[in-house]
Amino acid sequence: MEKQLNELKQQAIGELALAASADKLNDLRVKYLGKKGSLTAVLRGLGSLTAEERPRIGQVVNEIRNELEQLIESKNSQLKQAELSARLASEKIDITLPGRKNRLGHKHPLTTTLDRIKATFMNLGFEIADGPEVEQDYYNFEALNLPKDHPARDMQDSFYITEEFLLRTHTSPVQVRTMQKSEPNQPIRIIAPGKVYRRDYDATHSPMFQQVEGLVIDRGISFSDLKGTLELFIHEMFGNNVGVRFRPSFFPFTEPSAEVDISCVICSGSGCRVCKGTGWLEILGSGMVHPRVLEMSNFDPQQVSGFAFGMGVERIAMLIYGIDDLRLFYDNDLRFLRQF
Ligand code: FA5
Ligand code: MG
Repeated sequence: MEKQLNELKQQAIGELALAASADKLNDLRVKYLGKKGSLTAVLRGLGSLTAEERPRIGQVVNEIRNELEQLIESKNSQLKQAELSARLASEKIDITLPGRKNRLGHKHPLTTTLDRIKATFMNLGFEIADGPEVEQDYYNFEALNLPKDHPARDMQDSFYITEEFLLRTHTSPVQVRTMQKSEPNQPIRIIAPGKVYRRDYDATHSPMFQQVEGLVIDRGISFSDLKGTLELFIHEMFGNNVGVRFRPSFFPFTEPSAEVDISCVICSGSGCRVCKGTGWLEILGSGMVHPRVLEMSNFDPQQVSGFAFGMGVERIAMLIYGIDDLRLFYDNDLRFLRQF
């Protein structure tokens, strides 16, 4: 029995010496020491030995077992070491290659413009409000004094989702939402920036664009408050030398209404493609909140009055940066965007 065991041991040592990979080594571990391995089989067979033989043979088996385990262990670390050396010898790292730089991005020019608009109004005590881009016909038109058959709806040719829901065509519905959330006749002073959608497409019109709505309601608000606030804003954004023009206009939700133009910075007023030869570029619509709009949202036009405006963020950015086609802002061309 002992002789047999020693033969087994010599055989295992011989095979281990030849093992050239971790896989092969593992196969040998299973072959000799595994649950169904040859050495384990001997241990299982101990029961058939006599009582005197049993402890001695058991001891021999255990010694062999320990010896083989140690051998496998050291062979294993030898193999790993050899593998590592081989990799170190073949892999070449060129430490003279320049590293890869993390390019720092920056804000999109429209974001920078919007940030400046917001900061200017927040300094004047305005709060920020918002509303959904998928809007109900009621808020987008009806509550703004634009009933279903009103011809002024045509000016904002719209993207409808259903008959009752559309992509909002302006930020003015936030006026209504804000009034309806407020206590009747309490002062309101908000701006509402956000995306709006229209069926438009040319150098100064994009199908998706951004507006900033403004709404001020209080006792005794007059047109001179509207004019003073907007002039202050424009001079803050464009400097004191820019020309500002209030032009009579019409919106069903304001009365009187005015559109505000500033002198075209692309051509300095001599006329170009951007200002369509007029020397002026419209940046916003505005007016005194129509009494019917106040009433529909439970404000009493006998007690309070207000003004509102809605400006185009892309138009303002065009003028600040001297861009002659607003669609460039949305092309995502890095050659354009890196200039800001
Ligand atoms: C309105 O949208 C009104 N809701 C503004 C208003 C608010 C009036 C409150 C009175 C009281 P208008 O359609 O003119 O008005 O658009 C306002 C501004 O959005 C324009 O002056 C222009 O700067 C910008 N704008 C309009 N259409 C586009 C477009 N397709 N692409 C980029 N900017 C546009
Ligand atoms: Mg307009």
